Amino acid sequence: MIKSMSKKGRILIIPKKIVTADKANSIIKNQAVEIFDNKISAFIPLNEIQKQNYDEVYNAHDLTLIPGFIQTHVHLSQTLFRGLADELPLLEWLRLKIFPFENAHNEQSLRMTTKLSINELLMGGTTTFLDMGTLRYGEVVLQEMINSGIRGFSGKCLIDINDLYSDFKSSTKDEIKDITNLAQSFHNSADERVKYSFSPRFVLSCTQKLLKETKEIMKDFPGSIYHTHSSESLQEIDEVRKRFHKENIEYFNSIGVLDDHTVLAHCVHTSDNERKMLKDRNTRIAHCPSANMKLGSGIAPIPQYLKEGISVTLGADGAPCNNNLSIFNEMRLASLIQKPVHGAEVLDAKTIFSMATIEGARALHLESEVGSIEVGKKADLVLIDIDSYSNSYSDSEESVYSDIVFSSTTENVRSVMVDGRWLIKGRESLVYDQKEIISKGKEELAKLMKRIL
Ligand code: GUN
Ligand code: FE
Repeated sequence: MIKSMSKKGRILIIPKKIVTADKANSIIKNQAVEIFDNKISAFIPLNEIQKQNYDEVYNAHDLTLIPGFIQTHVHLSQTLFRGLADELPLLEWLRLKIFPFENAHNEQSLRMTTKLSINELLMGGTTTFLDMGTLRYGEVVLQEMINSGIRGFSGKCLIDINDLYSDFKSSTKDEIKDITNLAQSFHNSADERVKYSFSPRFVLSCTQKLLKETKEIMKDFPGSIYHTHSSESLQEIDEVRKRFHKENIEYFNSIGVLDDHTVLAHCVHTSDNERKMLKDRNTRIAHCPSANMKLGSGIAPIPQYLKEGISVTLGADGAPCNNNLSIFNEMRLASLIQKPVHGAEVLDAKTIFSMATIEGARALHLESEVGSIEVGKKADLVLIDIDSYSNSYSDSEESVYSDIVFSSTTENVRSVMVDGRWLIKGRESLVYDQKEIISKGKEELAKLMKRIL
């Protein structure tokens, strides 16, 4: 069902301009980008191009080249459940819908939801993601990531207590055995394109022993990430307080799981003390504005995090609480939801663009490889049309970021390359037959629903 992978080689892309996201936020004109194997090997002035040197010359005179987007919190396992869990707050959403749905996955349904997710992410220009995984069949997601050509982290989701839906859990001992095996098999596979992430679901679903031992195991897998949810809804935080007499992040801090390789999704409600801990430990936040609004969780204090020097990146979260996997929605909303409270000047387009590119790479410790267009970095690139009827009619530097963040959607994305390979070209997927995965996805969803009843 995967089309044969497009080849790497010596490729030249000639775009209208290049938005690099480098340290100086350079925008380059009149230069082409040369890709050799999986890396960006040179910028070539237009008058020095020698076309015969390349396996492929991509003339993109009307398109803008940008780094591939990076989403630091997604749930591939949930994409199949889009539209089936609307109008519920977090804990009810988990109890009534998401945990029963995820619990009913078999390998086939998980494979289809993974394909549908990777397809949607790639079509929207996302080239790297951090996935939360699900309780069972973690290897299915990781294998599909390898096969598809996308970059990212996944791992099994850890749950060893579940007061919301008791069927959906495993034992502490099995969880620990499974993650060790999976990380050994998959961490840094496919030329290091696919990495392992250790994913305790959230405080309410994990024993302290599991949370702590997972952090210990992680030390054997340098470059892996500890990925969990934190401080999302007031009801959830109340429950954490009742159990541990602490705020959510204070609890994580007290058991030693916060450091610069920990990514916390949400952090909507935090105290001064917790923010200090995030800063001191250099822990990264994955902000998911659509999900926070849709589940009625609240508005995360992003301007305050940035003022205090805390790293903030972006993710779409799961399809059933969004209901989209588009980074463009997250970029636009991340900025707009703050403006009525903090003023029109807050979270400008350039800052938001960084959060979705180089800052995402930093959060995942991939900044020497991806997140910006620089010689020596991996070729994770997106060609976007920001000269469409619904973008600005100016060629100024200011309007470039504004066009990407405020007036574009996934429809503006034309072509996507990961690790030197075209995965989307001219809006056509070179990875999946889209009609086929949608129809097979529907079949698997119908069967999965029967397994619940
Ligand atoms: N907290 C624990 N699990 C989840 C989940 O699947 N989605 C969101 N948004 N929050 C969670
Ligand atoms: Fe989530």
